[in-house]
Amino acid sequence: MATVAEPSVVSGGAHKASIRFTVNNVEHVVEGPNPRTSLLDYLRETAGLRGTKVMCREGGCGCCTVALMRPDPLQPQQMLTESVNSCLLPLCSLDNRHVITIEGLGGQRQGFHILQKRMVHYNALQCGYCTPGFIMQMYSLLAGKASPSLQEAEDLFDGNLCRCTGYRPILDAVKSFAEGQPGVVDIEVIVSMTIPKLDADESMNTYKIMMRAQNAHAYVSAGFRWRLCRHDGSSVIVQAATLVFSGVSSKLVHAYKTEKFLIGKDLGLPTTLKGALAELMVELEPEEDPVLASPAYRKILAMALFYKFYLLQVDDGVVSSRVRSARTILQRQVSRGEQTYDTQPDLYPLTQPLPKLAALLQTSGEAQFTDDVPPSRSELFAAFVTSTRGSANLASLDVMRALAMPGAVRVLQASDIPPGGHNTFMPPPFAPEEMLCSQEVLYAGQPIAFCLADSADVAQSMAGAIDVIYSDLRKPLISLDEAVAASSFWPSLEGDLKVGDAEGAIAKAPRSVQGEIHIGEQAHFYMETQVCRCVPTEDCLEVQTAHQWQDLAQDGVAYALGLKAKDVVVSARRLGGSFGGKATRANIVACCTALAAYLTRRPVRCAMNFNTNMEALGRRHRYLVKYKVGFHEDGELIGVLITYYCDSGSANNDSEVQETLLFADNAYKCANWHLISVAVKTDIPSATWCRSPGSLPVIFVMENIIEHIARELRKDPVEVQRQNLYRKGDITPNGFHLDYCSIRDVYSKLLQMADVTNRQADIVHYNASNRWKKRGLSVVPIKYGISWSFGHFLCAVSVYANDGTITISHGGIECGQGINTKVAQVCAHILGIPMKIISVAPTNTLLSPNAQATGGSISSELNCLAVQNCCDELRRRMDPVRESLPPNVTWLELVKACFNKKINLRAQHWVWPDDRNDGPQYNSYGVTAAEVEVDVLTGESITSRVDILFDCGQSLNPAIDVGQVEGAFIMGLGYWLTERVTYDPVSGRLLTRGTWEYKPPCSKDIPVDFRVHLLKDAPNPVGVLRSKASGEPPQCMSCSVLFAVKHAVDSARSELGLKEYFVMDGPATPDKVALSCLLDPRQFTF
Ligand code: FES
Ligand code: FES
Repeated sequence: MATVAEPSVVSGGAHKASIRFTVNNVEHVVEGPNPRTSLLDYLRETAGLRGTKVMCREGGCGCCTVALMRPDPLQPQQMLTESVNSCLLPLCSLDNRHVITIEGLGGQRQGFHILQKRMVHYNALQCGYCTPGFIMQMYSLLAGKASPSLQEAEDLFDGNLCRCTGYRPILDAVKSFAEGQPGVVDIEVIVSMTIPKLDADESMNTYKIMMRAQNAHAYVSAGFRWRLCRHDGSSVIVQAATLVFSGVSSKLVHAYKTEKFLIGKDLGLPTTLKGALAELMVELEPEEDPVLASPAYRKILAMALFYKFYLLQVDDGVVSSRVRSARTILQRQVSRGEQTYDTQPDLYPLTQPLPKLAALLQTSGEAQFTDDVPPSRSELFAAFVTSTRGSANLASLDVMRALAMPGAVRVLQASDIPPGGHNTFMPPPFAPEEMLCSQEVLYAGQPIAFCLADSADVAQSMAGAIDVIYSDLRKPLISLDEAVAASSFWPSLEGDLKVGDAEGAIAKAPRSVQGEIHIGEQAHFYMETQVCRCVPTEDCLEVQTAHQWQDLAQDGVAYALGLKAKDVVVSARRLGGSFGGKATRANIVACCTALAAYLTRRPVRCAMNFNTNMEALGRRHRYLVKYKVGFHEDGELIGVLITYYCDSGSANNDSEVQETLLFADNAYKCANWHLISVAVKTDIPSATWCRSPGSLPVIFVMENIIEHIARELRKDPVEVQRQNLYRKGDITPNGFHLDYCSIRDVYSKLLQMADVTNRQADIVHYNASNRWKKRGLSVVPIKYGISWSFGHFLCAVSVYANDGTITISHGGIECGQGINTKVAQVCAHILGIPMKIISVAPTNTLLSPNAQATGGSISSELNCLAVQNCCDELRRRMDPVRESLPPNVTWLELVKACFNKKINLRAQHWVWPDDRNDGPQYNSYGVTAAEVEVDVLTGESITSRVDILFDCGQSLNPAIDVGQVEGAFIMGLGYWLTERVTYDPVSGRLLTRGTWEYKPPCSKDIPVDFRVHLLKDAPNPVGVLRSKASGEPPQCMSCSVLFAVKHAVDSARSELGLKEYFVMDGPATPDKVALSCLLDPRQFTF
């Protein structure tokens, strides 16, 4: 429970009516509350409680969750505790309410709450941005029920998103209370609800079919209520019928004609079902809407739901056993997880599964993100104005309405960039990309002005009040297919890789296949939006920016403003997620914020509005891929020809052309390759590196090729994979020798651990017995090359002579991946000291200049390598002194002795591995088996089980690495199953720019049974302290879920006699899945 403080009074506002409420037991009185002010804004801006986080402001993410206590209407002396999205709750609705925020639970001064400790114990946080929201959701549940059921715990997070963890550890944390740990909270509230009873002869059911398991608009909802008269156990006569639908069309709610048709009919007669479906077929007239699924899907889905309900009313004697699987929707069990790994206790804290250093502070909201820094008195707030259409010229901007707003300060445009500066946020050698559009609008969503005001709310209102006039409107080139047909390409670098003679080999091969695949985009969906705070000082601009690449920020700001690098100091303590989206793209926010601070000479902050962030900045590249492959009768590859059309959008600075060629082969050997990679130019925001850039899509492509070959040869894809997997000593198409290749070993182990052969047999049996539910299983191996050649970081370890404590500064950015914890573990291990005397400084360009971007999975290990070198250097200096002291000398005594001998107790190391070796330092290997169940009638799927075996070398911290594996995999699962991106074809505007249109996975989209194993006894001979990276490779096995869905669909298609290969593009959303099953109402029978 919250600590009870002596009530005090906080007042705000100066109007007539007042409201009175408490926050964490402190009374607040607000005079004349502004009806526009949300509880979230009040908490963060007025009350200064910034532990409650903000992302979407539309009720879609849950990171603003707080608890609200109010009297129970049934028992007013009792209080009800419920969770609320504080972004949606008007402040003026709070009179006589009691609010509890994360600060009210616990913290480092008053001690941490058991929920906070439990989250840390289960390693249930990475970047920590979502964590206070999850904890407050848990708190609200447990306040009403100290020991909820497992199912209640499983169902809890229907409104909370986490992009980092993959949810499994968060679910474990809340389930730990369901498993009988008493006394967590001491409030017991009984909630009752009355549901009207149906008459004995009535049946009713409702359906809601969504893109993901929770918290989504329905594709189609349906409700059916029938009164039936049953005669002698065989005939079932309809006496009254109500059929209602939503999501089909704005006109239709009741299917009156079908209702009328059913009256008096015997449901047991096939003619009744057929006739009702025929009526529905006419009545359902879905409308076209680019945001919604296709009319064809929504229509067949509505009919399929009717069919489900219909079969429920008919006796088993009438409905064949194969068809009965239509009656139910997918039943998801309570999920479970299993994680196994090796540790080496003699090396602790190295290899120890320790929680992250700042984990507890993240749970209490005390860990500061950039926008949590309290504003200074003169601080200004900024918001971007973005274009509502692309492919046009900017004619004029009318800023009068915006500037007339109380609190408005200034509107910056491209012409405000000072002499000597440059209108680009990408400094040379990158191609310029405008900070603020000067004339040609390249895409809808492009920033064109920057509004400054004395509050964030006013700045955002100003942005909405600026009228933009466009001229020379052109049709935007949005379709990738059309762009490829029109040869709209960027000049390509290194886009062609030839080994042997692929075309010749394919021509001579006994068998060949060819095909085409489309792969969509993916939003990074970092939960902390892009944010920067810039403070002008007497000698520089201090740029506090949530940025993965501080060197680029420094260079970019200096170039944009005509300054020198020394005039710009960049810093960040932590990022609320990034995933590649805060590398080059964070620079536009940094440069515009710095411009505003430079011009006004005042501190300026811009925390990007979520929808603006989605529209203005690009995503993972989308692809059109064409391939042709030759192979032997046994499946052995002979020649592979692949052309990747990779959509870079309106700029090509984040091109993936090189990565596509590096990862194209995945884990397979072939003598002849011809790989062509083309960067396509379209009128959408510049695509951006996103976790596993290039590798994630091209590994999917190679697995598609394996699937295609398998189908052509009527083999299991596992056989074709086995046939072609690399062996030790093989050479990849990029010329890299696989000296330590263990893929065949990992592959065999995983097949055995996951019992793949037996489960496949069970699936065959299940599918043969069920027409409308199908299961599928897929195995995906990976070889993932980790290249060090581009990574360079400066680290320093400083030992304080006064008390022996240590501060590490390094060049990486803590964005949830645990880099700070790993470097501290390395330091503690080498110096033989406890972790608690080590702290890690925020990263900045003073301590770690010239650092490479944090990304590519390598930043943790390279900074660990640098810290290892620093500590080795310190030991070299200190060991001679140690030898002169008694053997049981303490660390502090040693430090003081060294200091007295004038030994420099700060060591630094600049790590830049050999950049002439552009090949992988080593390869990571992994194999995943994924099983799904698909409801053929709706297209929904449940990922029933996933087994991952991943080679992480000798993990530096298995808790962190398991978290990386799970988080990466679930982010990939979203990419392949739910995260659909669409544009308006006329304006080019992003339609999926909100949390209600764009759907990353929720907690009930993860595998029901999720088993993650780090390969044991697998020290990496060429890694840092025998470890391997874990941030990106596991994501590339997530396409296994799409293939498992595809196999289930394949089984449904084979019911129709279709045996030919078909393509399942990503993402395989339910509409795509159902349509791939070739549903037709004529198949809806008994
Ligand atoms: S739900 Fe409130 S900020 Fe997202
Ligand atoms: S830990 Fe949940 S969003 Fe980062």
